[in-house]
Parts: sequence; C-alpha cells; structure tokens
Amino acid sequence: MEYPLISRELLADLRIGHGLFNFSVMLLFFYTARYGLIIRRARKNGTPLPVAAMRRHRYLGPRLAILGGLGFGAGLTLVLLDTGNILKYPAHLLAGTAIIALLLATFLVSRKIKGPNSPYRNTHFQLGLAILTLYLVEVFLGLGVLL
Ligand code: HEM
Ligand code: HEM
Repeated sequence: MEYPLISRELLADLRIGHGLFNFSVMLLFFYTARYGLIIRRARKNGTPLPVAAMRRHRYLGPRLAILGGLGFGAGLTLVLLDTGNILKYPAHLLAGTAIIALLLATFLVSRKIKGPNSPYRNTHFQLGLAILTLYLVEVFLGLGVLL
C-alpha cells in the first residue's frame, strides 16, 4: 500500500482538525473543572449546595469523556491513514492512552461518589487534575508532531 492512503491535502486538513478538536475538548475540561472546584469549596466551607455547578459538572463530565475518546480514536485513525504505523509518534500515543485510561477511571470513580464525605471525592479530584495536566502535555507533544 502507498502512504498516505488519502490525499495529502485532505490529510493536512484532518491533522489540523484533530488538533483543534482536541484543543477545544481540553478547554472544556478546564471549564468543567471549575465547576468541580466550586462544588468542592462549598462542601469544605459548609456553604449551601451549589446546585447549578453540580448540575453542569454532572452533565458535562460524561459527555466530555466521550468526546475525549473520539479525539483519541481520530488520532489513531489519522496516523494509520498517514503511515500505517501506529507507533510513529510514541510519546503522543502514550500520553493519549494515559488520558483515556484516566478518563475512564475518573468516570467510574465519580459514580461511586455517594454523600458529602465520600473518600472517592478526593480520588476523583486527583484523577481530574492528572487529566488536565496530561492534556497540556499532549497538546505540547501534538504541536511537535504537527509542526
Ligand atoms: C470523566 C469526567 C468527569 C465526570 C464524569 C465527573 C463527575 C463528577 C461527579 C458526579 C461529581 C459529584 C458531584 C456532586 O457532588 O454532586 C464530581 C465532583 C467533582 N469533580 Fe468531577 N467529573 C469529571 C471530571 C472532572 C475533572 C477533569 C475534574 C478536574 C479536577 C473534576 C473535579 C471534580 C471536583 C473537584 C469535584 C468535587 C469533589 C469534592 O466534593 O471534593 N471532575 N465529578
Ligand atoms: C492540540 C492538540 C493536538 C495536536 C496538535 C495533535 C496533533 C496530532 C497529529 C499531527 C497527529 C499525527 C497524525 C498523522 O499521522 O498525520 C496526531 C496523532 C495522534 N493523536 Fe493527536 N494532537 C493533539 C491532541 C491529542 C489528544 C488530546 C489526544 C488524546 C486524547 C490525541 C491522540 C492522538 C493519537 C492516539 C494519535 C496517534 C499517535 C500515534 O499512533 O503515535 N491527540 N495528533
């Protein structure tokens, strides 16, 4: 087979598209993390339940996790169309795989949060911070792949 399997022009557009899409997903994760922090602060300070923040964070979290998975799948598809070699960009692949594993763990842990004193709240918070950090690393690595 001759690589890339699609035209170079289309591939170039899709590469930018993958980058922009995942960058937007990252921004949305930071946005929803803010609501998480509002929930946490209110709980620690014993102030009334921040109902709007809870509703938004619960709404966005699972949907963003799915979008994150789609962005990862798009990256895999692109590198296969481009080179047929999934290991072409090992660091970007590794960080992406870690993000997906953490997203899954964060989602599963969030479902175990029951009541204000659940120890899973801290676990969830730490996993969430790890996701945000890895997204920043992944954008940096992705720009290295792109440019
Ligand atoms: C997979 C995506 C995510 C899902 C499904 C999710 C879901 C949830 C749920 C259901 C809660 C409980 C809300 C309540 O008290 O009613 C929660 C709390 C929270 N989430 Fe997330 N979340 C996600 C991502 C994140 C991320 C990326 C962060 C970033 C740090 C984050 C930070 C928090 C914080 C700080 C709390 C409050 C914990 C506390 O009370 O101490 N979440 N999340
Ligand atoms: C601004 C952010 C990003 C940019 C600029 C970017 C850019 C790229 C580029 C140019 C490729 C190679 C496509 C090709 O071979 O033509 C790629 C592959 C890939 N991307 Fe991204 N990416 C970004 C974020 C992400 C994120 C957040 C994830 C995962 C959650 C991800 C997952 C992947 C995967 C799994 C591959 C295949 C890499 C491999 O097999 O080694 N990317 N990305």
